[in-house]
Amino acid sequence: MQKLGIIGSGSMGNGIAQTAAQKGYDVVLVAHRQVSLEKAQKSITGSLQKRVDKGKMAVEDMNAALAKIDFTLEMDKVADCDIVIEAIAEIIEEKIKVFTKLEEICRPDAILATNTSSLSLTDIAAAMKDNTRLVGIHFFNPVPAMKLVEIVKTETVSEDVLAAAKAFAESLGKTTITAKDTPGFVVNYLQYPFRLNAMRMYGAGIASAEDIDTAAKLGLGHPMGPLELQDMVGLDITYNATKSIYEKTHEPWIQPPQILEDMVKAGKLGRKTGEGFYKYDK
Ligand code: CAA
Repeated sequence: MQKLGIIGSGSMGNGIAQTAAQKGYDVVLVAHRQVSLEKAQKSITGSLQKRVDKGKMAVEDMNAALAKIDFTLEMDKVADCDIVIEAIAEIIEEKIKVFTKLEEICRPDAILATNTSSLSLTDIAAAMKDNTRLVGIHFFNPVPAMKLVEIVKTETVSEDVLAAAKAFAESLGKTTITAKDTPGFVVNYLQYPFRLNAMRMYGAGIASAEDIDTAAKLGLGHPMGPLELQDMVGLDITYNATKSIYEKTHEPWIQPPQILEDMVKAGKLGRKTGEGFYKYDK
């Protein structure tokens, strides 16, 4: 595989693009509007520049990685890609539209993957002409730093597609695990109850955000506390993901707490809006 298409230029799409470009892939990063495209260029350049500033990357390597990425608004440009990963917002109707179009424009042997963390691949595949083609390649935030990728398996995906997805993720230097297409896969099944409980504790006034995060870091050895992590990931992302899993399963472990809903409605989405569980200097 040489050429990767990415549909969606949010933090996950950008992170995947940066990681793949650093590994020498030709990348087509498709944004849905000009402002997102410019934000993606700025964000990836900024992320690489930080590595240069820290002395972890040569300027020439940064420029080479940036030259590998074609930032575009035209989805048709992924037509000759060997693999295409969808990383748009978690709205199933929109994802189905993307895969319907990809089935029309991509080569029949191209791998079609979704980075969804909360929607059912089986539901997406059911709307495709060929349900053996869709595979989950689920990255974690921040993509360049997180070493794991979950490969998500439906009942219908072909073994060749699964093996190709795994090989691709490993070529990016990631370790893979394989999970069945079930709500939350493995990582989010583990971490959502933890993070939602941190919010419930905070909402009930059991401890401050700082103390809850300190407890997780010093008492459990986590690299970040659940509430600071939440601010990094975005409260809207977690709210939409947990809500859609809850609506599908009605399992109490995944029910979004009231405080999360209230903060999302108030526009307190975390770092990106300047306030979440903490306040940030914009
Ligand atoms: N973008 C790119 N690279 C980044 C980065 C970013 N935002 N943040 C850190 N990195 C890189 C650094 O460049 C560094 O790389 P090198 O070692 O190659 O130089 C490496 O990550 C470590 O960074 P630092 O030493 O600066 O910082 P750290 O040791 O404090 O680690 C962290 C930062 C990796 C983010 C760490 O705090 C961590 O692992 N946090 C938890 C993150 C997590 O749980 N993510 C999952 C989120 S949930 C999710 O993604 C699931 C979903 O479905 C939505």
